[in-house]
Amino acid sequence: MLRYGVMTKSPKMRLSLTLRATLFLTLLAAGSTMAQTAQVFRLDGGNSTYAFGVNERGDLQPLYWGGRLGPHDSIRPAHSLPEMASFDSPYTTTPQEYASWGAGLFAEPALKLTFADGNRDLVLRFVRATPNGSQSIEVLLKDILREIYVTLHYTIDPDSGVLARSASIENREKQPVVVEQAAAAQWTLPPARYTLSYLTGRWAGEWTLNQEQILGGARVIESRRGTTGHQANPWFAISRDTRQNAAAPAIADEEHGEIWFGALAWSGSWRITIEHTQLDAVRVTGGFNPFDFGYKLKPGEHLETPVFYGGYSDQGLGGASRLLHRFEIAHILPQAPDPKLRPVIYNSWEATEFNVNEAGQMALAEKAASIGVDRFVMDDGWFGQRKNDHAGLGDWYVNSDKFPRGLKPLIDKVHVLGMDFGLWVEPEMVNPDSDLYRKHPDWVLNFSGRPRSESRNQLVLNLARPDVRDYIAGFLDKLLTENDIAFLKWDYNRNWSEPGWDQVPVDEQKRVYVEFIRNLYAILADLRKKHPKVEIESCSGGGGRVDLGILRYTDEVWPSDNTDPFDRLSMQDGFTYAYTPQIMMAWVTDSPHWHNHRSTSLTYRMLSSMQGSLGIGANLNHWIAEDFATAKRLIAAYHSVQRTIVRGDLYRIISPRDSSQMSATETVSSDKNQAVVFAFANATTEGRGFPLLQLQGLDPDAEYKLTWIEGKSWPGTPENASGAWWMRHGLQLDLRGDFQAASFHLDRQR
Ligand code: GLA
Repeated sequence: MLRYGVMTKSPKMRLSLTLRATLFLTLLAAGSTMAQTAQVFRLDGGNSTYAFGVNERGDLQPLYWGGRLGPHDSIRPAHSLPEMASFDSPYTTTPQEYASWGAGLFAEPALKLTFADGNRDLVLRFVRATPNGSQSIEVLLKDILREIYVTLHYTIDPDSGVLARSASIENREKQPVVVEQAAAAQWTLPPARYTLSYLTGRWAGEWTLNQEQILGGARVIESRRGTTGHQANPWFAISRDTRQNAAAPAIADEEHGEIWFGALAWSGSWRITIEHTQLDAVRVTGGFNPFDFGYKLKPGEHLETPVFYGGYSDQGLGGASRLLHRFEIAHILPQAPDPKLRPVIYNSWEATEFNVNEAGQMALAEKAASIGVDRFVMDDGWFGQRKNDHAGLGDWYVNSDKFPRGLKPLIDKVHVLGMDFGLWVEPEMVNPDSDLYRKHPDWVLNFSGRPRSESRNQLVLNLARPDVRDYIAGFLDKLLTENDIAFLKWDYNRNWSEPGWDQVPVDEQKRVYVEFIRNLYAILADLRKKHPKVEIESCSGGGGRVDLGILRYTDEVWPSDNTDPFDRLSMQDGFTYAYTPQIMMAWVTDSPHWHNHRSTSLTYRMLSSMQGSLGIGANLNHWIAEDFATAKRLIAAYHSVQRTIVRGDLYRIISPRDSSQMSATETVSSDKNQAVVFAFANATTEGRGFPLLQLQGLDPDAEYKLTWIEGKSWPGTPENASGAWWMRHGLQLDLRGDFQAASFHLDRQR
């Protein structure tokens, strides 16, 4: 809910901006109370309140972000902070909602630009605020002298309290300007001691949760790769430290304490800077990565930034991630607010790699159907002259050696078997050894006359070009029109190099960082509109393109090419801090695992994958009857509790982080009627048993019945007990050995 208070719209407010600023200062000097002139804007949603105001200079200043305040509580009006000696003016010491670079700002700016005459000074001041319903407000800012306008958008979700913020930068000057840095939003936390959590990784090693104390200076997490990247994910969480002294380890609490978190909805180069200011406040600035950025805005044009979402929880990191999961399901995913549960898929990539053909795929499809798989997906290798990763990308016709009768017989067969059919594509790429590249060598990102660096023998098509955009949109539309395809696995297997675009004037070439991603989103949106039943997975060599931007157009993601079930435990743990298990695809593949050479039982692999949206990626031709029976039983069990697993409230009972010997998760359905628990003993040493499992989130007064999916408890464990018993007394699992797993569910009886 939006409140905006103490607005004395005196005639002074309508005076010119400079004059108004002067007037405010005069009033101050005369001892006038700020409450008479100050404006405070307040947004309430879920359990949080966000407030900002206009200070005596006309700057937009953050005032409060945290737990929800009482409806009649007042918020102290904005007032700039004093000069910090002669070295730091109030312009740099005073937090701002959207600080422009000018007037001696030394902190991270939200906006920096260069005017046609060389002027680079920009000082934004409040013009007006326009509420739009009770959950949204737009605030217009303008430079003190020039015709640069910035509109800040705020919308709060009444359920989760997650706030969506973005900015629109408009040039009403007579000459172009170049935007060199543009954030979506800046968030400010008051002086305190904080711990930062963020996610980093690499190919086949994504989703490592890092935690560190926020100390003086700045921590930058970013991608300069033209895409989201495996190396860092555009999400952060900041917890307020309750430690008595700085020497204690900085660990954010899983279930207690205040957390502020944010996620940036952008699939191009991005940057989030977390600054600890000299006055001990924390400022978070996130948006387009300013590295190599330079967006020319012609007169009358405007630049929309991505959306930066932010939220607050007083229930630790667990509470923060539960809010975010709920928000993603209700507001981000294309099928929001109630996306379909992901079908259990079979994908043949690890079984056959590029050696796909009609007979082989049909044989695998029969076996997949026999264990209860819902969707059969054919991966790379079906098109062009694609025998390996050296050729074929760009040529999206069916390879007639492998599929002499086209795709139809295979698709029909998959349907007869009771599954739907999915297909792998990598639309934004081209192999130099392809008909497309031979015909259009100028379609790739490159600098004229310079070498074009290949990765996995491929180059990146320049989607910013309208002809490339149309080609991609066209072939995908044709593919989906001509074939009964329910699902696309949309891959993207390298990052940018030499990001040149020499078909447009030199001073417009850097717009590629924005236009490429916008065109990608536009193709996806258009495709979904034309083929509303088709679902899409975002894959980028695993988890290289997972963010709230791409998730508006894709139903699920491939978190990592690393399918080792033990590695996946900690990756899945990290992943779920930012993203819902609904979208987290997890395949069961072969043992020993190709990457780590680790051997694990099929049951362990199945239970590890069942924590997310389940898939099978093993070579079913090598399975014995017992494997089929195990998989069939566990897929059926998964189907029966899937909704709770992927849509329930997630509690991380024992963390798998740092290769922990034991780990456990629990998800509780929103009506608290069911809980599903997974437990893993990865190594048992010195005969130690599994730690006591005290569950969370149940109704203490309800009675719950225990049903095992896999495993057993110690003798004497009741089959029926109250929620209070499962949460306080807890149960003792009989789980020991290396790479052992157990799972059970509790169902409310009354
Ligand atoms: C990427 C994906 C894999 C597979 C291959 C195919 O690496 O992440 O799952 O689809 O491409 O080339």
